[in-house]
Amino acid sequence: MNLAELIACLREIFADDKVDCDEVRKVMAAYKSNVADWHRFAKFDPNKYTRNLVDVGNGKYNLMILCWPEGVGSSIHDHTDAHCFVKVLAGRLLETKFEWPTIEGARLKVKERTHYNVDGVSYMSDKIGLHRMENDSHSEAAVSLHLYIPPYTTCNAFDERTGHKTQCTVTFYSKYGQKVDYRGSAEGRLIETAAIEVPTPRCSNAVA
Ligand code: SIN
Repeated sequence: MNLAELIACLREIFADDKVDCDEVRKVMAAYKSNVADWHRFAKFDPNKYTRNLVDVGNGKYNLMILCWPEGVGSSIHDHTDAHCFVKVLAGRLLETKFEWPTIEGARLKVKERTHYNVDGVSYMSDKIGLHRMENDSHSEAAVSLHLYIPPYTTCNAFDERTGHKTQCTVTFYSKYGQKVDYRGSAEGRLIETAAIEVPTPRCSNAVA
């Protein structure tokens, strides 16, 4: 299965309104990372991780590629009631899961810490708690594929020492392989030409 076939499978699955998380996980795991499939979406910034939109699945989900320079991580965050699947495409990511804060001002409690190598898939949701992803390597960048169902534009970031939360807006560094320019508009506009449609062959028997 290539990335276009993975997208075809996801669009088929999400033609239905009910989400079968096991089926989604199986499809995410069945795709094997191939840089030729995703390099045009993988746009890095040296100082922060970037979110690069690949597909919106008729508004049912957001599929995106995140690029992680060495030593960079996300804030501890929730998922606004969305399901979150993360698949590592290159390098290695450390996921730290935390309990929801229960005591005002107390340090967040770590539930588990797991490293994911290429093709490893993680699942997260607000039912499980909060998490942070990090590229804890000092010598190798990382790239990951994230699927959020349904899409969300705001979430809460948490201070690890106090559990204090702050709402944040999430944005895209690029969409469909083209950098977004946010100067003059909160929505942003694509630099260069119009968005390119991701080709979607039928899902067929791509997932055994
Ligand atoms: C993550 O840590 O799961 C990435 C968060 C994001 O989508 O920006």
